[in-house]
Amino acid sequence: MTAQIIDGKFLAQKICSELKQKISAFNDNSPCLAVILVGDDEASRIYVRNKQKKAAEVGINCRVIELSSSIGENALLSTINELNNDPDVHGIIVQLPLPEHLDKQKIIFSISPDKDVDGFTPYNNGLLSYNHHDAFISATPKGVLAMLQSIGIDLRGKHAVVIGRSQIVGRPMGKLLLNHDCTVTITHSHTVNLPSITQTADIIVSACGQPQMIKSSWIKDGAIIIDVGINRLNGHLCGDIDFEDVKSKASYITPVPGGVGPMTVAMLLANTFEAFLRQKDHPQHHCCHGHDCHCSK
Ligand code: GUN
Repeated sequence: MTAQIIDGKFLAQKICSELKQKISAFNDNSPCLAVILVGDDEASRIYVRNKQKKAAEVGINCRVIELSSSIGENALLSTINELNNDPDVHGIIVQLPLPEHLDKQKIIFSISPDKDVDGFTPYNNGLLSYNHHDAFISATPKGVLAMLQSIGIDLRGKHAVVIGRSQIVGRPMGKLLLNHDCTVTITHSHTVNLPSITQTADIIVSACGQPQMIKSSWIKDGAIIIDVGINRLNGHLCGDIDFEDVKSKASYITPVPGGVGPMTVAMLLANTFEAFLRQKDHPQHHCCHGHDCHCSK
């Protein structure tokens, strides 16, 4: 068997074209995404540039706010607070990772749930746990789901093994697959005998950041393999999957680059458009003073 490639770049382009068309109908008003970039992490800069470029293509204003790595926590919180209160901004993301001295949770939790287009706040995470349709779902898991749906498989009852338990990918991915009736196993760095688990998987979603870790001997015949990893090996980009080895045994596989990456960007833009639509109809649902505020709004 040679696996069919799930072409994320092509699929993302299709999603972006549809989005562009929908956005063009609002000719007097465009969605706006604010991206906060703290410090000078090289990979983050590339990701943000990609988001900015794609946003422009579909007609979303992208306001990139570049802040010094030495910024204090209060200054960053007050920047987010201003964006929460700015009616011209519909989506806010803080590019991760943040410098060590900043409390990541405190920063993320201060984003208004209405503008949390990364789906990282406890509110949107909670809605995802409830399988509630109002949840903003993190872009990468949402993109992976769209890739699985694009091949027309019935997810019900499939054993999906997620490798990695990060807040950005592994955990929300597990919940999302569960919401689509998969039987989900979330594995991580302390999992004992990982290959014995992946060998039973109908679907593997890997987001562990270990270059080419997953070999053909780890998977069963015909498994569907989704590679979220973006790693550097000998100067080249590669995923968590040993693509050349695994492709002869899997039924479907995603490439790196050109797989999940472009889908993440497309889904972030789709979430921003959704936030724009909701705020157009209902200017502000939530108090924008942070999660520990008890004001009446
Ligand atoms: N860093 C790596 N992936 C992501 C993402 O999806 N969102 C944000 N905000 N930061 C990231």
